[in-house]
Amino acid sequence: MNKIAVVTGGVAGIGEAIALGLVEDGYKVVVCDVNRERGQAVQERYPGKVFFKECNVAEEDSVRRLIQEVVDAFGRIDVLVNNAGIIRRRAGEEISTADWDVVFAVNVRGAFLMCKYAAEVMKQAGSGRIVNISSVAAKMGDITSAPGYGPSKAAMDGLTKTFARELAPYGITVNGVAPHAIETDMSAQWSPERRAAIIEAIPLKRLGQPRHVAACVRFLVSEGADFITGEIIDVNGGFLMD
Ligand SMILES: NC(=O)c1ccc[n+]([C@@H]2O[C@H](COP(=O)([O-])OP(=O)(O)OC[C@H]3O[C@@H](n4cnc5c(N)ncnc54)[C@H](O)[C@@H]3O)[C@@H](O)[C@H]2O)c1
Repeated sequence: MNKIAVVTGGVAGIGEAIALGLVEDGYKVVVCDVNRERGQAVQERYPGKVFFKECNVAEEDSVRRLIQEVVDAFGRIDVLVNNAGIIRRRAGEEISTADWDVVFAVNVRGAFLMCKYAAEVMKQAGSGRIVNISSVAAKMGDITSAPGYGPSKAAMDGLTKTFARELAPYGITVNGVAPHAIETDMSAQWSPERRAAIIEAIPLKRLGQPRHVAACVRFLVSEGADFITGEIIDVNGGFLMD
């Protein structure tokens, strides 16, 4: 197998677990991120399997350049995972327009640009899989006082369904995964009280691990999922059942 996957924000947390899961499934994985130091470290840890490219998904030139570099180096893109995402925590009346805009620029425009340019490559091949990493906050609003975040993930879900319809005739599926309370650098910053309250609200009474999100992505890009498109799968320990 000589398949190529691109994972945005793939040098840390959930993105790194997704990248390594896809490596286990035989993919060569291009991880793109704004964090050069971590990117180079991941590439060095998995030589010949993980390739780091610096890219800011919110900037069109950066995305265009990234996709061109991947095509020049590997000639194809079989899987795209839009995982890069940011959050700005503030009360609604306190958040600045700049903070609101940057969350939308990375979470929504970034996913849009990556879909747009990767789809051009996938269309030529007549196949491809795109997975967008959303959040439970898309469906129930943000529970951690980050007014730009939940709406940005809701927009991402709309993008998933829109691209799923548009790209279906080309043999490309587009799905989402909506996690909640996954143990990453982000959750390491919670106070013990906050951590306990979050766990208490989850029926399975524990936090999720990055590998749980990765397992879902690995399924969505597998042969077995080739009749699934426009779907958003929850990975949340039962926190939201809908
Ligand atoms: N951790 C959770 O509990 C949780 C819950 C729901 C959804 N999510 C979503 O999962 C995804 C990954 O979350 P995580 O917890 O692993 O976060 P993280 O902060 O550990 O990793 C995000 C990565 O994205 C990169 N990134 C940020 N802005 C970028 C940009 N403009 N261009 C390219 N890369 C950029 C960061 O450098 C980082 O490596 C995010 O989309 C997040 O919204 C996480």
